[in-house]
Amino acid sequence: MVVTRTVEELQEALTALVSSKGDDGGLVPTMGALHEGHASLMALALETNAWVATTIFVNPLQFNHLADWVRYPRCEKEDFIFLKEHGVDLVFAPTPDEVFPFDWVAPELDLGGLDLQLEGAFRPGHFKGVAIVVGRLLDLIPCASLYMGLKDYQQCLVVERLLLLRKGMSGQEGPVMVKVPTVRDGDGLALSSRNLLLGPDQLARAKGIARTWAWMKTVWQGLEPQDLIENALKRLTAEGLRNEYLYLARDGGLEPWVKGDGNPRALYAGWLDEVRLIDNELFSIV
Ligand code: PAF
Repeated sequence: MVVTRTVEELQEALTALVSSKGDDGGLVPTMGALHEGHASLMALALETNAWVATTIFVNPLQFNHLADWVRYPRCEKEDFIFLKEHGVDLVFAPTPDEVFPFDWVAPELDLGGLDLQLEGAFRPGHFKGVAIVVGRLLDLIPCASLYMGLKDYQQCLVVERLLLLRKGMSGQEGPVMVKVPTVRDGDGLALSSRNLLLGPDQLARAKGIARTWAWMKTVWQGLEPQDLIENALKRLTAEGLRNEYLYLARDGGLEPWVKGDGNPRALYAGWLDEVRLIDNELFSIV
């Protein structure tokens, strides 16, 4: 596994990789603090593509508060071991200056309003920051497939839109996006780098999200959407979470789900003390 830190090192390593393995590459962008959720993206990429590159970059553009960016878990040494063990070919772990040099101009991206709702409403500018960095990483690491975790469902929609915009601008097909299902622990807690910020009591409360999904799955077909949401929010509050939103979307987008309109995807964000968690779950007719 080659670890690169500068764009120059990256280009050199990519040239070598493409000349030995061809241009069928898979890219798994991450912010580090890697866990089994990331491993599932890498495993799929390794199965699908001739080589796999991972980026570890805690992108300052997507954080609303400097304190949150500073606090984001960083464990590069362990991450490198993890990536090597999982068979990744190339790692790009740059500094912000390397990704966004002073003479680099951020593109104007029309994300079609996907960046303004739900997460976007609570974290203004967050998705613009995500789209900008993913676009930049794709410029630096041309690939055939881009792997994104469904844990960040709205992010997947934003990146899908980014790929369409890039296709329109370049006239080239660009990478295929592969959405990888969320990995959960035995109690249903979605794996997330932010879980590292939780103490034992907070972790126990975080599992209240999974308990609420389990309850919703048993009753969603019998309740009006508004009653389902109100009851679920009460449960989440009782579990010790400070709710931001709970929303039922028609799966595949962000349009509101209405009864009888296929399977709903529930999207949630809430706080456990000072740690913000998001999760989503698809309810299907059994
Ligand atoms: O999901 C993440 O870890 C980040 O938002 C991403 C896609 C790596 C962009 O910084």
